[in-house]
Amino acid sequence: MAKSLQTPEPELLKPGVKAPVQETLLTPRFYTTDFEAVAQLDISAHEPELQAIVDELRADYNRHHFVRDSEFQQSWEQIDGETRRAFIDFLERSCTSEFSGFLLFKELSRKLKDRNPILAEAFHFMARDEARHAGFLNKAMGDFNLSLDLGYLTRNRTYTFFPPEWIICTVYLSEKIGYWRYIIMYRYLEAHPEHKFYPLFNYFESWCQDENRHGDFFKALLRSQPQLWNNWKARLWVRFFLLSVFATHTLTVLERASFYRSIGINPYEYNIQVIEKTNETAARAFPVILDTNHPEFFRRLEECSDINVKIAEIEASNSPKIVKFLRKVPLILAIIRHLLRLYLLKPIDAELTREAVC
Ligand SMILES: [Fe+2]
Ligand SMILES: [Fe+2]
Repeated sequence: MAKSLQTPEPELLKPGVKAPVQETLLTPRFYTTDFEAVAQLDISAHEPELQAIVDELRADYNRHHFVRDSEFQQSWEQIDGETRRAFIDFLERSCTSEFSGFLLFKELSRKLKDRNPILAEAFHFMARDEARHAGFLNKAMGDFNLSLDLGYLTRNRTYTFFPPEWIICTVYLSEKIGYWRYIIMYRYLEAHPEHKFYPLFNYFESWCQDENRHGDFFKALLRSQPQLWNNWKARLWVRFFLLSVFATHTLTVLERASFYRSIGINPYEYNIQVIEKTNETAARAFPVILDTNHPEFFRRLEECSDINVKIAEIEASNSPKIVKFLRKVPLILAIIRHLLRLYLLKPIDAELTREAVC
Protein backbone atom coordinates (compact mmCIF):
# COMPACT_ATOMS: atom_id res chain seq x y z
CA MET A 1 0.00 0.00 0.00
CA ALA A 2 2.63 2.51 1.03
CA LYS A 3 4.89 1.39 -1.82
CA SER A 4 3.15 3.44 -4.46
CA LEU A 5 3.13 6.60 -2.38
CA GLN A 6 5.46 9.36 -3.46
CA THR A 7 6.42 12.15 -1.13
CA PRO A 8 6.71 15.52 -2.85
CA GLU A 9 10.01 17.34 -2.45
CA PRO A 10 9.78 20.91 -1.16
CA GLU A 11 10.14 23.36 -4.01
CA LEU A 12 13.65 24.65 -4.36
CA LEU A 13 14.11 28.21 -5.40
CA LYS A 14 17.10 29.24 -7.40
CA PRO A 15 17.59 33.01 -7.15
CA GLY A 16 19.69 34.46 -4.35
CA VAL A 17 20.51 31.17 -2.67
CA LYS A 18 21.22 31.84 0.98
CA ALA A 19 24.14 30.34 2.81
CA PRO A 20 22.78 28.37 5.76
CA VAL A 21 23.24 29.96 9.18
CA GLN A 22 26.32 28.96 11.08
CA GLU A 23 25.56 25.82 13.04
CA THR A 24 25.31 26.24 16.82
CA LEU A 25 23.65 24.23 19.55
CA LEU A 26 20.53 26.32 18.93
CA THR A 27 20.19 25.99 15.15
CA PRO A 28 17.62 23.38 14.05
CA ARG A 29 19.29 20.01 13.81
CA PHE A 30 18.98 17.08 11.43
CA TYR A 31 18.34 13.67 12.91
CA THR A 32 18.77 10.04 12.03
CA THR A 33 17.86 6.95 14.04
CA ASP A 34 17.96 3.15 14.23
CA PHE A 35 15.40 2.41 11.51
CA GLU A 36 15.50 -1.34 12.19
CA ALA A 37 14.48 -0.77 15.83
CA VAL A 38 11.61 1.52 14.74
CA ALA A 39 10.41 -1.15 12.29
CA GLN A 40 10.28 -3.65 15.15
CA LEU A 41 8.25 -1.47 17.53
CA ASP A 42 5.21 -3.34 18.78
CA ILE A 43 2.39 -0.81 18.37
CA SER A 44 -0.47 -3.28 18.90
CA ALA A 45 -1.56 -1.73 22.22
CA HIS A 46 -2.54 1.52 20.47
CA GLU A 47 -3.11 0.33 16.91
CA PRO A 48 -6.74 1.52 16.55
CA GLU A 49 -5.77 5.02 17.77
CA LEU A 50 -2.75 5.14 15.44
CA GLN A 51 -4.86 3.93 12.51
CA ALA A 52 -7.46 6.62 13.22
CA ILE A 53 -4.74 9.30 13.10
CA VAL A 54 -3.37 7.85 9.85
CA ASP A 55 -6.90 8.06 8.39
CA GLU A 56 -7.08 11.69 9.45
CA LEU A 57 -3.67 12.41 7.91
CA ARG A 58 -4.82 10.73 4.69
CA ALA A 59 -7.86 13.01 4.56
CA ASP A 60 -5.36 15.83 3.99
CA TYR A 61 -7.47 18.73 5.27
CA ASN A 62 -4.80 21.26 4.25
CA ARG A 63 -4.53 20.01 0.67
CA HIS A 64 -5.51 23.40 -0.73
CA HIS A 65 -4.22 25.56 2.09
CA PHE A 66 -0.64 26.25 1.03
CA VAL A 67 -1.40 28.29 -2.06
CA ARG A 68 -0.06 31.83 -2.16
CA ASP A 69 -2.94 34.27 -2.54
CA SER A 70 -2.94 37.68 -4.23
CA GLU A 71 -1.75 39.41 -1.05
CA PHE A 72 1.75 38.09 -1.77
CA GLN A 73 1.79 39.78 -5.21
CA GLN A 74 3.62 42.94 -4.27
CA SER A 75 7.04 44.28 -3.44
CA TRP A 76 8.28 43.81 0.14
CA GLU A 77 11.00 46.47 -0.01
CA GLN A 78 9.16 48.47 2.64
CA ILE A 79 10.14 45.83 5.21
CA ASP A 80 13.67 46.95 5.87
CA GLY A 81 16.42 47.39 8.42
CA GLU A 82 16.33 45.32 11.59
CA THR A 83 12.75 44.13 10.94
CA ARG A 84 13.79 42.67 7.57
CA ARG A 85 16.92 41.03 9.02
CA ALA A 86 15.03 39.53 11.96
CA PHE A 87 12.16 38.32 9.76
CA ILE A 88 14.50 36.61 7.29
CA ASP A 89 16.23 34.95 10.24
CA PHE A 90 12.83 33.71 11.48
CA LEU A 91 11.94 32.38 8.01
CA GLU A 92 15.29 30.65 7.62
CA ARG A 93 15.15 28.99 11.00
CA SER A 94 11.56 27.86 10.55
CA CYS A 95 12.24 26.57 7.03
CA THR A 96 15.28 24.59 8.22
CA SER A 97 13.38 22.97 11.05
CA GLU A 98 10.38 22.07 8.84
CA PHE A 99 12.83 20.64 6.31
CA SER A 100 14.61 18.66 9.02
CA GLY A 101 11.24 17.06 9.92
CA PHE A 102 10.59 16.30 6.25
CA LEU A 103 13.92 14.48 5.82
CA LEU A 104 13.50 12.38 8.95
CA PHE A 105 9.87 11.41 8.20
CA LYS A 106 10.64 10.66 4.55
CA GLU A 107 13.51 8.37 5.50
CA LEU A 108 11.40 6.61 8.15
CA SER A 109 8.60 6.10 5.64
CA ARG A 110 11.01 4.70 3.04
CA LYS A 111 12.74 2.32 5.47
CA LEU A 112 9.52 1.06 7.07
CA LYS A 113 7.30 0.58 4.01
CA ASP A 114 7.64 -3.20 3.86
CA ARG A 115 7.95 -3.72 7.60
CA ASN A 116 5.43 -1.61 9.44
CA PRO A 117 2.74 -0.26 7.08
CA ILE A 118 0.84 1.85 9.63
CA LEU A 119 3.95 3.72 10.73
CA ALA A 120 5.26 3.95 7.15
CA GLU A 121 2.03 5.55 5.97
CA ALA A 122 1.92 7.97 8.89
CA PHE A 123 5.51 9.08 8.24
CA HIS A 124 4.73 9.44 4.54
CA PHE A 125 1.82 11.81 5.24
CA MET A 126 3.78 13.78 7.83
CA ALA A 127 6.68 14.15 5.36
CA ARG A 128 4.14 15.47 2.85
CA ASP A 129 3.01 18.13 5.35
CA GLU A 130 6.54 19.18 6.35
CA ALA A 131 7.55 19.40 2.67
CA ARG A 132 4.67 21.82 2.11
CA HIS A 133 5.60 23.86 5.17
CA ALA A 134 9.28 24.09 4.19
CA GLY A 135 8.41 24.87 0.56
CA PHE A 136 5.98 27.61 1.58
CA LEU A 137 8.55 29.22 3.85
CA ASN A 138 11.19 28.97 1.15
CA LYS A 139 8.85 30.79 -1.25
CA ALA A 140 8.39 33.49 1.38
CA MET A 141 12.18 33.83 1.48
CA GLY A 142 12.00 34.23 -2.30
CA ASP A 143 9.97 37.41 -1.73
CA PHE A 144 13.08 38.78 -0.02
CA ASN A 145 15.30 37.64 -2.92
CA LEU A 146 16.67 34.73 -0.93
CA SER A 147 16.14 31.01 -0.73
CA LEU A 148 17.64 28.18 1.25
CA ASP A 149 19.47 25.64 -0.84
CA LEU A 150 17.62 22.64 0.57
CA GLY A 151 19.53 20.20 -1.66
CA TYR A 152 22.81 21.52 -0.27
CA LEU A 153 21.45 21.24 3.27
CA THR A 154 20.46 17.61 2.66
CA ARG A 155 23.92 16.68 1.47
CA ASN A 156 26.09 18.71 3.79
CA ARG A 157 24.38 18.89 7.17
CA THR A 158 25.67 16.66 9.89
CA TYR A 159 23.05 14.27 11.17
CA THR A 160 22.70 13.67 14.89
CA PHE A 161 21.88 10.07 15.84
CA PHE A 162 19.04 9.65 18.33
CA PRO A 163 17.76 6.22 19.42
CA PRO A 164 14.05 5.67 18.57
CA GLU A 165 12.94 6.39 22.17
CA TRP A 166 14.56 9.84 22.06
CA ILE A 167 13.16 10.53 18.59
CA ILE A 168 9.62 9.70 19.79
CA CYS A 169 9.88 11.94 22.88
CA THR A 170 11.67 14.89 21.26
CA VAL A 171 9.68 14.93 18.01
CA TYR A 172 6.46 14.69 20.06
CA LEU A 173 7.57 17.77 22.00
CA SER A 174 8.78 19.68 18.98
CA GLU A 175 5.45 19.11 17.16
CA LYS A 176 3.46 20.29 20.16
CA ILE A 177 5.66 23.30 20.87
CA GLY A 178 5.47 24.07 17.13
CA TYR A 179 1.66 24.00 17.38
CA TRP A 180 1.63 26.44 20.29
CA ARG A 181 4.22 28.75 18.71
CA TYR A 182 2.17 29.12 15.52
CA ILE A 183 -1.28 29.36 17.13
CA ILE A 184 -0.28 31.89 19.81
CA MET A 185 1.33 34.10 17.18
CA TYR A 186 -1.71 33.71 14.92
CA ARG A 187 -4.20 34.60 17.66
CA TYR A 188 -2.19 37.61 18.72
CA LEU A 189 -1.95 38.97 15.16
CA GLU A 190 -5.63 38.30 14.59
CA ALA A 191 -6.35 40.61 17.52
CA HIS A 192 -3.70 43.14 16.38
CA PRO A 193 -3.82 43.10 12.56
CA GLU A 194 -1.86 46.38 12.42
CA HIS A 195 1.28 44.34 13.26
CA LYS A 196 0.74 41.80 10.47
CA PHE A 197 3.34 43.10 8.03
CA TYR A 198 3.41 40.05 5.75
CA PRO A 199 0.62 37.58 4.70
CA LEU A 200 2.47 34.44 5.86
CA PHE A 201 0.96 34.88 9.33
CA ASN A 202 -2.57 34.37 7.89
CA TYR A 203 -1.67 30.75 7.16
CA PHE A 204 -0.65 29.74 10.68
CA GLU A 205 -4.10 28.69 11.96
CA SER A 206 -4.58 25.71 9.63
CA TRP A 207 -0.84 25.14 9.41
CA CYS A 208 -0.55 24.52 13.13
CA GLN A 209 -3.31 21.90 12.92
CA ASP A 210 -0.86 19.81 10.87
CA GLU A 211 1.67 20.06 13.72
CA ASN A 212 -1.04 19.20 16.22
CA ARG A 213 -1.97 16.03 14.29
CA HIS A 214 1.71 15.07 14.03
CA GLY A 215 2.01 15.55 17.78
CA ASP A 216 -1.08 13.39 18.37
CA PHE A 217 0.44 10.63 16.28
CA PHE A 218 3.65 10.73 18.33
CA LYS A 219 1.63 10.78 21.54
CA ALA A 220 -0.17 7.57 20.53
CA LEU A 221 3.15 6.01 19.50
CA LEU A 222 4.71 7.01 22.82
CA ARG A 223 1.83 5.60 24.86
CA SER A 224 2.06 2.33 22.89
CA GLN A 225 5.57 1.88 24.35
CA PRO A 226 5.14 1.44 28.13
CA GLN A 227 8.91 1.55 28.69
CA LEU A 228 8.72 5.24 27.73
CA TRP A 229 6.48 6.20 30.64
CA ASN A 230 6.00 3.49 33.27
CA ASN A 231 9.34 3.48 35.09
CA TRP A 232 11.66 5.80 37.01
CA LYS A 233 14.22 6.03 34.19
CA ALA A 234 11.56 7.27 31.79
CA ARG A 235 10.56 9.91 34.34
CA LEU A 236 14.14 11.19 34.54
CA TRP A 237 14.50 11.26 30.74
CA VAL A 238 11.19 13.06 30.26
CA ARG A 239 12.28 15.82 32.66
CA PHE A 240 15.50 16.14 30.68
CA PHE A 241 13.69 16.37 27.32
CA LEU A 242 11.17 18.92 28.60
CA LEU A 243 13.88 21.11 30.11
CA SER A 244 16.08 20.89 26.99
CA VAL A 245 13.23 21.92 24.70
CA PHE A 246 12.09 24.74 27.01
CA ALA A 247 15.63 26.06 27.53
CA THR A 248 16.31 25.99 23.77
CA HIS A 249 13.01 27.79 23.16
CA THR A 250 13.81 30.49 25.71
CA LEU A 251 17.31 31.11 24.34
CA THR A 252 16.07 31.15 20.75
CA VAL A 253 13.11 33.48 21.36
CA LEU A 254 14.97 35.93 23.58
CA GLU A 255 18.00 36.00 21.28
CA ARG A 256 15.61 37.00 18.49
CA ALA A 257 13.58 39.41 20.60
CA SER A 258 13.67 42.03 17.82
CA PHE A 259 11.59 39.79 15.52
CA TYR A 260 8.86 39.33 18.14
CA ARG A 261 8.89 43.05 18.95
CA SER A 262 8.55 43.82 15.22
CA ILE A 263 5.14 42.08 15.27
CA GLY A 264 4.19 43.72 18.57
CA ILE A 265 4.72 40.61 20.71
CA ASN A 266 6.51 40.81 24.06
CA PRO A 267 9.11 38.00 23.66
CA TYR A 268 9.19 37.26 27.41
CA GLU A 269 5.41 36.85 27.65
CA TYR A 270 5.33 34.84 24.41
CA ASN A 271 8.05 32.49 25.67
CA ILE A 272 6.23 31.90 28.96
CA GLN A 273 2.89 31.29 27.26
CA VAL A 274 4.32 28.82 24.72
CA ILE A 275 6.18 26.87 27.41
CA GLU A 276 3.25 26.77 29.85
CA LYS A 277 0.86 25.54 27.15
CA THR A 278 3.31 22.93 25.84
CA ASN A 279 4.00 21.69 29.36
CA GLU A 280 0.25 21.35 30.06
CA THR A 281 -0.25 19.47 26.78
CA ALA A 282 2.68 17.17 27.52
CA ALA A 283 0.77 15.83 30.54
CA ARG A 284 -1.27 13.81 28.01
CA ALA A 285 1.79 11.87 26.89
CA PHE A 286 4.46 12.00 29.57
CA PRO A 287 4.46 10.51 33.08
CA VAL A 288 5.65 13.82 34.57
CA ILE A 289 5.73 17.47 33.53
CA LEU A 290 7.74 20.39 34.92
CA ASP A 291 6.60 22.82 37.59
CA THR A 292 6.55 25.97 35.43
CA ASN A 293 4.77 27.85 38.24
CA HIS A 294 7.77 27.53 40.52
CA PRO A 295 9.16 31.04 41.13
CA GLU A 296 12.62 29.94 40.00
CA PHE A 297 11.46 28.39 36.74
CA PHE A 298 11.32 31.28 34.27
CA ARG A 299 13.76 33.41 36.29
CA ARG A 300 16.54 30.85 35.78
CA LEU A 301 15.64 30.23 32.12
CA GLU A 302 15.80 33.97 31.45
CA GLU A 303 19.13 34.23 33.26
CA CYS A 304 20.43 31.48 30.96
CA SER A 305 19.32 33.63 28.05
CA ASP A 306 21.17 36.71 29.41
CA ILE A 307 24.33 34.61 29.75
CA ASN A 308 23.82 33.21 26.26
CA VAL A 309 23.76 36.76 24.86
CA LYS A 310 27.10 37.45 26.61
CA ILE A 311 28.55 34.26 25.09
CA ALA A 312 27.41 35.39 21.63
CA GLU A 313 29.10 38.77 22.19
CA ILE A 314 32.38 37.04 23.10
CA GLU A 315 32.04 34.81 20.02
CA ALA A 316 31.57 37.87 17.81
CA SER A 317 34.57 39.72 19.30
CA ASN A 318 38.02 39.86 17.72
CA SER A 319 39.80 38.25 20.68
CA PRO A 320 42.11 35.27 20.08
CA LYS A 321 40.43 31.84 20.31
CA ILE A 322 42.02 30.95 23.65
CA VAL A 323 40.88 34.23 25.23
CA LYS A 324 37.35 33.66 23.95
CA PHE A 325 37.42 30.14 25.37
CA LEU A 326 38.63 31.27 28.80
CA ARG A 327 36.00 34.01 28.97
CA LYS A 328 33.25 31.59 27.95
CA VAL A 329 34.03 28.80 30.43
CA PRO A 330 32.58 30.47 33.57
CA LEU A 331 29.49 31.53 31.60
CA ILE A 332 28.87 28.01 30.27
CA LEU A 333 29.30 26.67 33.82
CA ALA A 334 26.75 29.22 35.05
CA ILE A 335 24.21 28.01 32.46
CA ILE A 336 24.84 24.39 33.44
CA ARG A 337 24.32 25.33 37.12
CA HIS A 338 20.97 27.01 36.36
CA LEU A 339 19.79 24.06 34.26
CA LEU A 340 20.82 21.60 36.91
CA ARG A 341 18.86 23.50 39.55
CA LEU A 342 15.84 23.53 37.25
CA TYR A 343 16.21 19.83 36.53
CA LEU A 344 16.16 19.07 40.24
CA LEU A 345 12.91 20.98 40.91
CA LYS A 346 10.16 18.61 41.98
CA PRO A 347 8.15 17.63 38.85
CA ILE A 348 4.37 17.22 38.64
CA ASP A 349 2.98 13.71 38.31
CA ALA A 350 0.94 13.48 35.11
CA GLU A 351 -0.16 9.84 35.34
CA LEU A 352 -2.65 10.72 38.08
CA THR A 353 -4.36 13.41 35.99
CA ARG A 354 -4.12 11.70 32.59
CA GLU A 355 -7.73 10.58 32.35
CA ALA A 356 -8.92 14.07 33.30
CA VAL A 357 -6.94 15.97 30.67
CA CYS A 358 -7.19 13.57 27.70
FE1 LIG B 1 5.64 21.52 9.99
FE1 LIG C 1 5.11 18.64 12.05
